[in-house]
Amino acid sequence: MRYFIGADHAGIEIKAFVKKLFENLGHEVEDLGPFDKTRVDYPDFAAKVCEAVLENEGTKGILICGTGLGMSMAANKFDGIRAALCHNDFSAAMAREHNDANILCLGERVSGYGVIESIVNTWDSHKFQGGRHAGRVEKINKLGSCRI
Ligand code: RB5
Repeated sequence: MRYFIGADHAGIEIKAFVKKLFENLGHEVEDLGPFDKTRVDYPDFAAKVCEAVLENEGTKGILICGTGLGMSMAANKFDGIRAALCHNDFSAAMAREHNDANILCLGERVSGYGVIESIVNTWDSHKFQGGRHAGRVEKINKLGSCRI
């Protein structure tokens, strides 16, 4: 699988670690920045990763900020993106099995290295189950352009 990874200044410490974890699992990971600790705005990097995922069929993304909240909020504005903020293994398993999430969001200030490694392994080893979940994911996809 090809992944794109991005962060903000509050997620940059753990970005290289997460990239290595995915590479060790046999994935190709393209780092879309940032590349130093200068303060940046997380929506800018969420946009970079989401655009790359949407432009390259069959790819997925990883977004890291302090809490993972801002990244997941920004990413889910993109039609076709299903970003899942995971702080534990159960969420990571369900994000893949039930929601067919295509972006994993992590919070560097929330989850430590050990928890994040476990989340990555769980995310990687669980596949979308389809079946009754497929119709629900399809309904999420159709919400993409909803306006009130
Ligand atoms: C940056 O200070 C912080 O607000 C950001 O990384 C993230 O946690 C936002 O959701």
